[in-house]
Amino acid sequence: MSDEKSKKDRTEGPKKSTVVVVTVSIVAALLAAFIGGLLLDPSAHHFHAAISEVVERYSVDLPQLDMAEWNVNNYVSGLFESSRRIFESRDFQVGRELAAKGYKPKHPVILLPGLVTTGLESWTTTEEDESFFRQRLWGTSSMFRAIMTDKKKWIRQMTLDPVTGLDGKGIRVRAAEGLDAASYFAAGYWVWNRIIQNLAAVGYDLDMMYLASYDWRLSMSNLEERDHYFSKLKDRFEQNLRIHGAKSVLVTHSMGGTVGYYFLKWVENNAGADWVDKHVEALTLVASTMLGVPKSMAALMTGEMRETVDVPDALERVLEMFLGADERAPLFRSWAGSASLIPKGGETIWGNLTWAPDDFPGTNRTFGSFFDYKTENATESMDLTKSIDWLLEHAPETYRNMLASNYSFGFERDPRKIARNNKDQTKWTNPLETSLPNAPNMKIFCIYGYGLPTERGYYMRHNDQPEQTHRHSRIDTSVVSDEGAYNVTAGCKDGDGDGTVTLVSLGGMCTGGWKQRRYNPGNSPLTVHEILHEPDALDLRGGEKTGQHVDILGSRDVNEAIVKIATGNGDDVGDLFVSPIREYSSRINW
Ligand SMILES: *[C@@H]1O[C@H](CO)[C@@H](O)[C@H](O)[C@H]1NC(C)=O
Ligand SMILES: *[C@@H]1O[C@H](CO)[C@@H](O)[C@H](O)[C@H]1NC(C)=O
Ligand SMILES: *[C@@H]1O[C@H](CO)[C@@H](O)[C@H](O)[C@H]1NC(C)=O
Ligand SMILES: *[C@@H]1O[C@H](CO)[C@@H](O)[C@H](O)[C@H]1NC(C)=O
Ligand SMILES: *[C@@H]1O[C@H](CO)[C@@H](O)[C@H](O)[C@H]1NC(C)=O
Repeated sequence: MSDEKSKKDRTEGPKKSTVVVVTVSIVAALLAAFIGGLLLDPSAHHFHAAISEVVERYSVDLPQLDMAEWNVNNYVSGLFESSRRIFESRDFQVGRELAAKGYKPKHPVILLPGLVTTGLESWTTTEEDESFFRQRLWGTSSMFRAIMTDKKKWIRQMTLDPVTGLDGKGIRVRAAEGLDAASYFAAGYWVWNRIIQNLAAVGYDLDMMYLASYDWRLSMSNLEERDHYFSKLKDRFEQNLRIHGAKSVLVTHSMGGTVGYYFLKWVENNAGADWVDKHVEALTLVASTMLGVPKSMAALMTGEMRETVDVPDALERVLEMFLGADERAPLFRSWAGSASLIPKGGETIWGNLTWAPDDFPGTNRTFGSFFDYKTENATESMDLTKSIDWLLEHAPETYRNMLASNYSFGFERDPRKIARNNKDQTKWTNPLETSLPNAPNMKIFCIYGYGLPTERGYYMRHNDQPEQTHRHSRIDTSVVSDEGAYNVTAGCKDGDGDGTVTLVSLGGMCTGGWKQRRYNPGNSPLTVHEILHEPDALDLRGGEKTGQHVDILGSRDVNEAIVKIATGNGDDVGDLFVSPIREYSSRINW
């Protein structure tokens, strides 16, 4: 299929006039494509080509199903079944092995999920929208069903008010609760389930394990404002200490790391300087977005839904096909929470037009040039700092106000200013403008994958369709090479990382930033455990040695590390380096 056609498929979505039967087969094809995405290398930027191929293939061949009979759940789990059976025996393996060696529960465990992997459910009771009451609008197959049956209703409920950042009038959408909120994203697609299984195998149950789900659409301050999220999280740590007589281990994934860091700052300000040292045994950052994700910038610049970083690209594509660009852009701009992923540290971390700390040796191109606009005869480049300025100038006013009042992306060396920032919630998602609480006994673990091409910069073109004024530019997917300096796939420059988060963001704080006293005043001990991405070709999710951003939650090393840390054997985890992170980190002027 030609590139042109696949682009068309991505942007147009199913036509309104299509009869139900055809719609169903398209939907089935999209789901098949969603699953297909898991079969392929999830990092493949060529995904939209692949998905269009699947659509083309299936929309003709699929049996014509009746909407009522068609059960998404069965369909999806059926596709996963064969692979599941092969690997079922491995599910509890790590936990069983460690249990046999005498590992027992010691510290209560609090799991903090990442962006978009937490389910959201409707609590809206208005007549118009009551049909979704207590159904998942995000996560599980009921999400797909909701989008399919009534897209407008779904969008209305999922969109936040751009001024308050809270639910629209009459709407209530809340994070699902309990372990089920993020054990699985959809049937067969596990997120935290492996970790829960392995903790259970050494003796954990609901008494000592808690999943701190949150509405990831909200800005951090609104999480407290609306849901009392941080107050409740604090209570949970205190309750654990009171009941079990032990400090808790906080295990975060992806954006959960950023939320976890904000929590430490919030609780320091609300419960005193020594609270963290008294209540938190370990901060375990799995595939953490600590310094931000370049992908999120691309999302904000283009209005594409690319910032959904925790689920496979395939889900993004499915959403992109269902929702037109005009529907997507306002929807996700209203999700203030995702702005916590904007890269932090400016030029010091992300480079300038001549240099970046993570440039590959022997090339004369730099990742520091974040966005390149290629025109006929010249290339106009923007570094990260300039792109953020640009965004602040061009985004809608409500979004600019939200950014300015909730987030900060700079770099600060002056200890007096850091001390002042420690009291300013605007700065609490940025570990380079604030310091960790003084917690000499809190162990910090950075655990992440390495070895997947990861979006680090973009080739862009200005939007040439004047009617789409809300979208200023697009990724120029026609650019596929850069004279060998680095690999370019469909307009994205590939850097190092876990397929979603770049290496410097994953490991920078643990190898450089928090070695500075000004960011880590208590000298909290740091452990870096990298996992080389060596996926098992037979396993849809990469198996025991995957380093991929989400699949890593099922990898042996991560499960072993978490069980060891929880059972009080964190010292056994140990440093392990397989990437050039120490070299990159040494080039950063921390
Ligand atoms: C954060 O942004 C929201 C809009 O999403 C706004 O209502 C709120 O006032 C901001 N928080 C602070 C502390 O200014
Ligand atoms: C880019 O950063 C490097 C290293 O900090 C510096 O030597 C160089 O002068 C900077 N270039 C520009 C154009 O600012
Ligand atoms: C450096 O840039 C020049 C011109 O842009 C190009 O011809 C050359 O191949 C580049 N060298 C490397 C090592 O990429
Ligand atoms: C690009 O360069 C060519 C040849 O030098 C010239 O004819 C053309 O007008 C230029 N295009 C632009 C947009 O400047
Ligand atoms: C570029 O891609 C090729 C082929 O996929 C791979 O072997 C190579 O390691 C990549 N180079 C870099 C610098 O990522």
